[in-house]
Amino acid sequence: MEQSPGDSRRIPIHRPEDFLGMHRAGRLAAECLDMIGPHVRPGITTGEIDRIIHDWTMARGATPATLGYRGYTKSSCTSINHVVCHGIPGERALIDGDIINIDVTVILDGWHGDTSRMYVAGQANTKARLLMDVTYESMMRGIAAVRPGATLGDIGHAIQTHVEKHRFSVVRDFCGHGIGRTFHAPPNVLHFGKPGEGPVLKPGMFFTIEPMVNAGRPEVKILDDGWTAVTRDRSLSAQFEHMLGVTEQGCEIFTLSPTGHHKPPYA
Ligand code: MF3
Ligand code: CO
Ligand code: CO
Repeated sequence: MEQSPGDSRRIPIHRPEDFLGMHRAGRLAAECLDMIGPHVRPGITTGEIDRIIHDWTMARGATPATLGYRGYTKSSCTSINHVVCHGIPGERALIDGDIINIDVTVILDGWHGDTSRMYVAGQANTKARLLMDVTYESMMRGIAAVRPGATLGDIGHAIQTHVEKHRFSVVRDFCGHGIGRTFHAPPNVLHFGKPGEGPVLKPGMFFTIEPMVNAGRPEVKILDDGWTAVTRDRSLSAQFEHMLGVTEQGCEIFTLSPTGHHKPPYA
C-alpha cells in the first residue's frame, strides 16, 4: 500500500481464535498462487491470468478483495519487469524472459489473505534471477526478525541491509500493512529502517511484509492509469509478499505455499 508518514493509529491486537480465520484465508491465497504457476508462460495475457484467478477464487467461496477496491476493477495485480506494483491485468501477452509479480488478495469468511510471488515466462536472465532471489531472501530475513519485543524498525533494517549488500535498492513509496478483517490497517510496515525504532511487536498483530526491490534506483512513478507504479529509471523490479501473525514464540506465516513453490524456478 501507499506509505503515509507518521502513521500513529493504534495497531489492532487479534484474539487467539482469529489466527484460524487468517490461516485459512492465507492458505487459500497461497493455493491460488500455486494454481496459477503453470499458466505463466509466453503467450498468455495478464488479463487471462486475472480471469483464471477470479474464477478459481469465486469457485472456492471466496471473493477477490481488489475487485472494486478504490475503483480497481481486477482480481489481481500483475507487475511485469520494470513495473514495481499494482500493474493492471489487460491485453499484454507475456514474452520469453519476462519476470512478473502476481499479487492476490482473497476474502474468506471475512478474513483477508494477501500474498504475492515472482514468476518467469520461459527463461529469465542472470540479473533478473539474482534480483528475485535477493528480494525473496530479504523478505524472509524481515520475517525472521518478527517476535514479541522486536520493532518494525528491526524488520525494515533486516530487509534493507540484505538488499543493499547486493547493490539493489528498496522502494520507499510502498509498504506492508496491517491486515485482518480489514484489507489495509495499521501499522505501515516499512521495508527499510533502523534497529530498535518504531512500534514494538506484540502477539496478535497481523501484517504483511512485501518488499519491492529495484535493480537500479529506488524512485518510482505512477502511470496515467492511476495505479501502475514503475521504476523511474526503467530498471527491473521484484516483489514477494507474505502475511503473518505475531505469536508468543515468533510468528506464524499464513501464506506459505502448501506445495513448497516459494520462489522461481518452480519446475
Ligand atoms: N495486494 C496489494 C497489497 O499487497 C494491494 C492491491 S490494491 C489494488 O497491499 F487495488 F491495487 F489491487
Ligand atoms: Co499487501
Ligand atoms: Co498484496
